[in-house]
Formats: sequence, structure tokens, C-alpha cells
Amino acid sequence: MKGILLAGGNGTRLYPLTRATNKHLMSIYDKPMIFYPLSTLMLAGIKEIALISSPKYLPLYKELLGDGKQLGISLTYIEQEKPEGIAQAFLLAEEFIGNDTVCLTLGDNIFYGDGFSKLLKECATLDKGGIVFGYHVNDPERYGVVDFDKKGNVIDIQEKPSIPKSNYAVPGIYFYDNSIIEISKSLKPSERGELEITDVNLAYLHRGELQVKIFGRGSAWLDTGTPESLLDASNFVGTLEKRQGNKIACLEEIAYKMGFISLDMLVQNISKMPKGEYKNYLVQLLESEQTNLVLATTV
Ligand code: DAU
Repeated sequence: MKGILLAGGNGTRLYPLTRATNKHLMSIYDKPMIFYPLSTLMLAGIKEIALISSPKYLPLYKELLGDGKQLGISLTYIEQEKPEGIAQAFLLAEEFIGNDTVCLTLGDNIFYGDGFSKLLKECATLDKGGIVFGYHVNDPERYGVVDFDKKGNVIDIQEKPSIPKSNYAVPGIYFYDNSIIEISKSLKPSERGELEITDVNLAYLHRGELQVKIFGRGSAWLDTGTPESLLDASNFVGTLEKRQGNKIACLEEIAYKMGFISLDMLVQNISKMPKGEYKNYLVQLLESEQTNLVLATTV
């Protein structure tokens, strides 16, 4: 499965923060926002990833993440001239997707919860149809919203309805088979002039090929498109990290734990980092891994 990280758009709701930079480079507590959705794809076991953003900001992402080798992944960069809809990503990435299945995640969506990595890995084995999620929120009118019949079957999905039919919003992570290319090509721009991801999901639903999985209340889905949600996300990450002493979305740690990079590569990564709390965290990880290795070889 290939991965797409969508990090374009104008970030208008964050103006003037976004006047001189791209939203997904902003900080969520101690890391750039893009680390979080990138870690989501990595936790799904996806190693071939395309990052899509505007031509103006792609160079900044290249500087931040390079070709991905240091994380044991391969990063491709694709330009989106104008933000003409989430589903446009599949047209821009057609060659990159090739004959494969694909997972797209939005650059401003953060996921966290027990069992989440397992769920992602299961979804990444998809071979037919599509998988999206439903998550109970207070303000469904801001999102794609799922409509269920009395038996709990999904009968419709509406994009930002003024009167939502349920409280279940569709978070920004989507898994599709290769018909995504043909479906995206058949889409027409919506009234707001965008190729809507909700129309993609409806196409799968009408084919009887859409699974909607519910993210339970023990999991967190945060989107970070407004000043308030940006602050909430930072507070959420900061609170958990300080309490547990574990970092969320530490890419080098995930790359190592997923088996994408060796201990030697982790050492190389750490040696290039400036002194600071992020490095200290990884040094601690390294020391405990080295101790484990010594123990394993001496027992
Ligand atoms: O956050 C989940 C929601 O994301 C879904 O529930 C909705 O169905 C979906 O339409 C989307 O709604 P938003 O209004 O939040 O989408 P927004 O325009 O803010 O874009 C989401 C992210 O995708 C944001 O990080 C910018 C990026 N983007 C968006 C568009 C339209 C692009 O990179 N290019 C684009 O053309």
C-alpha cells in the first residue's frame, strides 16, 4: 500500500499564522504538525509515501524530511498548484499510486489511542473497496457526516451538512483500492469548487464497497485547522508526553520500532541532532535498546 500525505491548502482559518508559512509546518507542542500524520502512515506499515503541497512550500518539506531514507521510508514530493479538493490528490498521485492500494491522510489530522496502530495495520491489508472511519463529535457540521439506518448500516455521507443526521464525523484518513483512480477521474467539482473526498466515499458506498469503522471513545482524533484546535492539540500532546514520558509521533523512534531502520541508523540520526530535549529522549531510547541487546546476548 502507498501513502499520501496531503499538506497543501491555504490555511486561511489560521491567518496570519499562515501568511508566511504552511499550516502543516506549525508546531503541535514539540514537533511540526506534519510529523503526526506522517507517523500515522508509518504506524500502518506504509513505507512509500508521497507528500503533496503547494510549489511554494514543498522545498520546506524537502528540507525537513529529505528523501526519507533516514527513517527507512521513501518520500516523493508532488506539487498541488491550487487547493482544488482533497480528492485531487489521487489525480496528482496517479503515477505514484500505480496499480497499488492507497491510504491518504490529511496533514492537519492527529490520531492517538490504544490499539490504533493495530487497526491501521489491519486497514493497510485492504485489497478491495474502501475503509473510512466514524468518530463521535460535538460539532459534526464541520465535517463529512455519516448517516445510519435503524440497523446501524451506513446509508449516506454528507459534507458539512447544516443539519447533520448524526454526530459521527469522518476523520481525515482513508484507505482505498486501486479503483480510486477511476473514481477520482469521474468526480465533478462541488459547489465550493473542490473535488470532494465525500464524493469518493459515496461512490464506494453506492458500489456496496465502503466499510465505515467506528473509532471508539477511548481514541483521540484532533484536527488542527483553527487557532483553538491548534492549541487544544498542543495541550493534548503536551499533557500526555509530560505525564507518560513517551513522545507522540517521534519519527525516529517509530522508524526504529517498526523495524524500518537499524540501531546503527538510529545512532546516526541522533548524532546529527542538536542538543536538546528531543535528542535526549532518543538517547534514552537508544541506551535502553542497547541494554536490552546486551541482556539478550548474555542470557
Ligand atoms: O478533517 C476531516 C475533514 O476534512 C472531513 O471530515 C471532511 O469530509 C473533509 O472534506 C475535510 O474537511 P475540511 O474542511 O477540514 O478540509 P480542509 O479544506 O480544511 O482540508 C483538510 C486538509 O487538507 C488541510 O490540511 C489542507 C489539505 N488540503 C485541502 C484541500 C482542499 C490540501 O492540501 N489541498 C486541498 O486542495
